[in-house]
Amino acid sequence: MQGFDTVIRNGLVATAAETMQADIGIRDGRVVALGQELARGRVEIDARGKLVLPGGVDAHCHLDQPMDEGLRMADDFASGTRSAACGGTTTVIPFAAQIKGRSLRDAVEDYHQRAGRKAVVDYAFHMIVTDPTEQVLREELPALIAEGYTSFKIYMTYDDMMLDDRQILRLLAVARRHGALAMIHAENADCIAWLTETLEEAGHTAPLYHGTSRPMAIEREATHRAITLSELVDVPILIVHVSGREAIEQIRWARGRGMRLYAETCPQYLFLSAEDLGGGYEGAKCVCSPPPRDRANQRVVWEGLSDGLFTIVSSDHAPFRFDDPQGKKPGGKEVAFRHIPNGIPGLETRLPLLFSEGVRTGRITLNQFVSLTATNPARLYGLHPRKGTIAIGSDADIAIWDPNKEVTIENRMLHHDVDYTPYEGMQVTGWPVTTLVRGERVWDEGQPCAPSGHGEFLPCGKPEMARPKPGDAAAGGYVGNLPDALARLAKGPPHA
Ligand code: URP
Ligand code: ZN
Ligand code: ZN
Repeated sequence: MQGFDTVIRNGLVATAAETMQADIGIRDGRVVALGQELARGRVEIDARGKLVLPGGVDAHCHLDQPMDEGLRMADDFASGTRSAACGGTTTVIPFAAQIKGRSLRDAVEDYHQRAGRKAVVDYAFHMIVTDPTEQVLREELPALIAEGYTSFKIYMTYDDMMLDDRQILRLLAVARRHGALAMIHAENADCIAWLTETLEEAGHTAPLYHGTSRPMAIEREATHRAITLSELVDVPILIVHVSGREAIEQIRWARGRGMRLYAETCPQYLFLSAEDLGGGYEGAKCVCSPPPRDRANQRVVWEGLSDGLFTIVSSDHAPFRFDDPQGKKPGGKEVAFRHIPNGIPGLETRLPLLFSEGVRTGRITLNQFVSLTATNPARLYGLHPRKGTIAIGSDADIAIWDPNKEVTIENRMLHHDVDYTPYEGMQVTGWPVTTLVRGERVWDEGQPCAPSGHGEFLPCGKPEMARPKPGDAAAGGYVGNLPDALARLAKGPPHA
């Protein structure tokens, strides 16, 4: 019997399914033993009094994404993944974004160049499809899915990204046929445009009005429409960054009708509110879409976490510096809300915030926490069981937590390249003290310590969860309100 490279000893190990007192033996970057009193490893880590959890999988973050002229994301693959590691996250999935008029393949190749050998945690890519030409639909997308890019985001808003319903339907049909998962940003673009014009005419251009221009109703409408499109094509979708009650009601309604449908939320919808958009231009720090809502909506999002409505919790880290002409002050000016780049940082704080306010308060169990932040994202995007769990054969991606560590969040202790955190001054209990990626320490004793370029690219499998729900065989699956014959014609066979 070969020895272990590392043994993590005496910790309380939790997965999505169970919690157990166990030692973990690691060899060649993988978990090879789970048990009591394992033989000594070359490296010994004493986790007595600590929690030993699968490293987090942050399946929605934006790093070094090409931006409009004059804007720049503050984090690239080096600083973004460093920050992730220091917050207990061991896999990230950012976005290779197609530029309208250009090829999707080019976007993926360009994104590999940007990733270079910079990452310190492992990473996969989602794609963002902004121009679903015949070439993209028939050739590029199916080929890219087969190569391990098995998820893509569709925007229902943002002028340079949004697709109309027919384009979305065609993309969902490709997802169904080729076994990919579509992620939908659900907000009604025309309503936002009209509300923005109306607010501007009245002179309301401060960041506070970003929230007014994107009320819950426009997210509710788009969520319902996305669900309808998914029903017509009979393919599961993920509604990303769900912000509150009315969107949640649509998801519950669809699930109640038997649809297979997934939902993501983010810490900003649990910890921030519309008030954070106020206070003058400082509010720009919290401009993201959908916008943070109110405390009543926060409560409904918490309920959705505890009762299983939500499949995953991601950061939606979209890093722009506040005091920066390429960030929240484009051209060095305080601009009208429509010109403020959308997004907030959160890769490093995602897990501690959710652990502290979710697990420690009893709103969610420790196993739910693991499931929402690691196991489910890995399953949803075809990375499980390599990622997202602690099991024999899985990568030794592990976060060792001090569940009693009291931390006041301050931007100066974080490791991103953003000049603020929206969570400044918040007190949390529980923080990862050591993070391992494939058995190597990337965060330990308060220091990032990854060997440079340690992160590897992960081609994703075709996710089981993206398969249409098996249904009445004669009808070819779940057909909702579509007449059977039309359903068969429109949908085609799903990916086997
Ligand atoms: O405001 C946000 N969420 N910015 C990031 C891009 C997106 O829509 O996820
Ligand atoms: Zn989005
Ligand atoms: Zn996003």
